Amino acid sequence: MGIDYKIADLALHGAGRHQIRLAEHEMPGLMSLREEFSASKPLAGARIAGSLHMTVQTAVLIETLVALGAQVRWASCNIFSTQDEAAAAVVVGTGTEAEPAGVPVFAWKNESLEEYWWTAEQILTWPGAAEDAELGPNMILDDGGDATMLVHLGAAYEATGTVPGAETAESHEQGIVLGTLRASLAADPGKFTAIAGKILGVSEETTTGVMRLNQMAAAGTLLFPAINVNDSVTKSKFDNKYGIRHSLPDGIMRGTDVLIGGKVVVVCGYGDVGKGAAEAMRGQGARVIVTEIDPICALQAAMDGYQVAALESVLELGDIFVTTTGGKDIITATHMQGMKNKAIVGNVGHFDNEIDMAGLAAIPGVQKVEIKPQVHEWIFGTGTEAARSIIVLSEGRLLNLGNATGHPSFVMSNSFANQVIAQIELYTKAGNGEYSKAVYVLPKILDEKVARLHLSALGVELTELSPAQAGYLGLDVAGPYKAENYRY
Ligand code: NAI
Repeated sequence: MGIDYKIADLALHGAGRHQIRLAEHEMPGLMSLREEFSASKPLAGARIAGSLHMTVQTAVLIETLVALGAQVRWASCNIFSTQDEAAAAVVVGTGTEAEPAGVPVFAWKNESLEEYWWTAEQILTWPGAAEDAELGPNMILDDGGDATMLVHLGAAYEATGTVPGAETAESHEQGIVLGTLRASLAADPGKFTAIAGKILGVSEETTTGVMRLNQMAAAGTLLFPAINVNDSVTKSKFDNKYGIRHSLPDGIMRGTDVLIGGKVVVVCGYGDVGKGAAEAMRGQGARVIVTEIDPICALQAAMDGYQVAALESVLELGDIFVTTTGGKDIITATHMQGMKNKAIVGNVGHFDNEIDMAGLAAIPGVQKVEIKPQVHEWIFGTGTEAARSIIVLSEGRLLNLGNATGHPSFVMSNSFANQVIAQIELYTKAGNGEYSKAVYVLPKILDEKVARLHLSALGVELTELSPAQAGYLGLDVAGPYKAENYRY
C-alpha cells in the first residue's frame, strides 16, 4: 500500500531534490549526525509527528530522522511557509512519482486555517492507530507548539467535554481548532488521551513554543517531557539572530523590491530576532529605530547605536515596520492608520497576533488590494483627498517564510542538529524515567558539539586548551567551556 499524503504537486519533486542535494552540502551538522548514527539507528521504533515549516532545510532534517531509524509524518507549522517542491521530494523519497516511497507530508503553500488544522491532525493520525494505539505517534517535533497544543486540548476535551477558551470561540481560529477536535474524535473517540499516554516527549524549536511549554509546566498540565531546543546557544544565538539577518531582508526585497538603504526601519523588540533584524537593516543602509519594553534590551540597543523610541512617537517617521517580539497587539489598527503613505508592515515573530490584522480589516471603508500573493495594500479613506495606503506582508504572518524561503541551510543545520540530538535524548531516555514532565535544555557539552560540527566547513581553526591551562581554569580539555548561566 502506498503512503498517504497531501501536498500541492508531486511533479515538483525533481526540483525539490536538486535543492535538497545542495542544502545537504550546506548542512554539515545534520550530515555528520547521519554518518555517526545511521548504522546504530537510535531512532528505530520512533514514530515522530513533526510540525515545522516544510522547507528544503526541513527536508534534510526529515530525511536525517529517517536515516536514524524513525518513521515520520509531517505538517508545516505555518500556512504560508511550505516550499512545495521540498514537500514533493520528501513524499517521493526513494520511490517515483507513480509510486512515492518517502514520508507522508501534509503541507502546501497557502493553506486555509481549516486546512492547516486538518494537516496538524493528520500528523497525529497514524495508519492503524484507531484499532491499535501502539501504532500511533510516540514523539513530537514541534515549532511554535501547535501539535503539542492539539494533543493537550484533545486530551482535555476528552476528559471534560470542553476546551478552555475554545467553547466560547473567543477567536475564529479557536473555533476551527474545536471543529477539528470534534471531527477527529467522532472518528476515533479517546484518540488524544491515547496519544498523550504514548508520547515520550516533544522537542520544541522556537521561543513562542517554549513559552507555551513553560506555561503548561508551571500549571502542572504538561502531559510529557519536553526539550527546549530554542535555548541551546547554537539555536537561539544563531538561527534567531543570524538566520533573521539573512531572511528578513530577503522577504522584504522579494515582497516589495523597495530599496532599504536610506529608509527608516522600526524594529519592535530587541531580543535575539530583533538584534538580527536591526543589524540586517543597518547593513542595508537603513536608519534603524528600536522599540523595547525590557530596560536591559533597550539599553543594549542604545549601546549598539540605535535610537530607542516608543512606537507612537515614530509612526510618521518609519518607512518599514517589523515586529520581532513573540508578544501580541504590538502594531494596532490605530498605529497603522497613523503611518505614512506606503509604509511597509511585516512580522517575523511566530504568530500573526503581533499585528492586529482583524482590527485593520475592521477599519470603516478600508480596502484590501492584492498586489501579489502574500503582499497586500490596505487603503484608508478611498476616494478622499486624504487617501493613503500601507503594505502588509504575509498577512501579518512570518514574512521571512511567507515572502521568501526562511533561514538558509547552514544556520538551520545548527538548529536541526539540536533537534535530532533532542529527539535521540528523549526517545532513548524518557522511557527509562530519565526525563519527567518538565521542560529541559540539552547539556552544554552537546551544544558545543553542534557548534563543533560546523567549524571545519567555515575553515575555523579552534585553539585547544593545554592541560595546564584547563587545570588553571578548572575545565576539562574536552569541555564544557562555560558555566550553564553564561550568556554569550
Ligand atoms: P526574545 O524573547 O529574545 O525577544 C523578544 C523581545 O521582544 C524581548 O526582548 C522583549 O522584551 C521584547 N518585547 C516584548 N513585548 C514587546 C513590546 N510590546 N514592544 C517592544 N518589545 C517587546 O525572543 P526571540 O528569540 O527574539 O523570538 C521572538 C519571536 O520570533 C518569537 O515569537 C519566536 O518564536 C520567533 N522566531 C521567529 C523566527 C523566524 O524565522 N521568523 C526565528 C526564530 C524565532
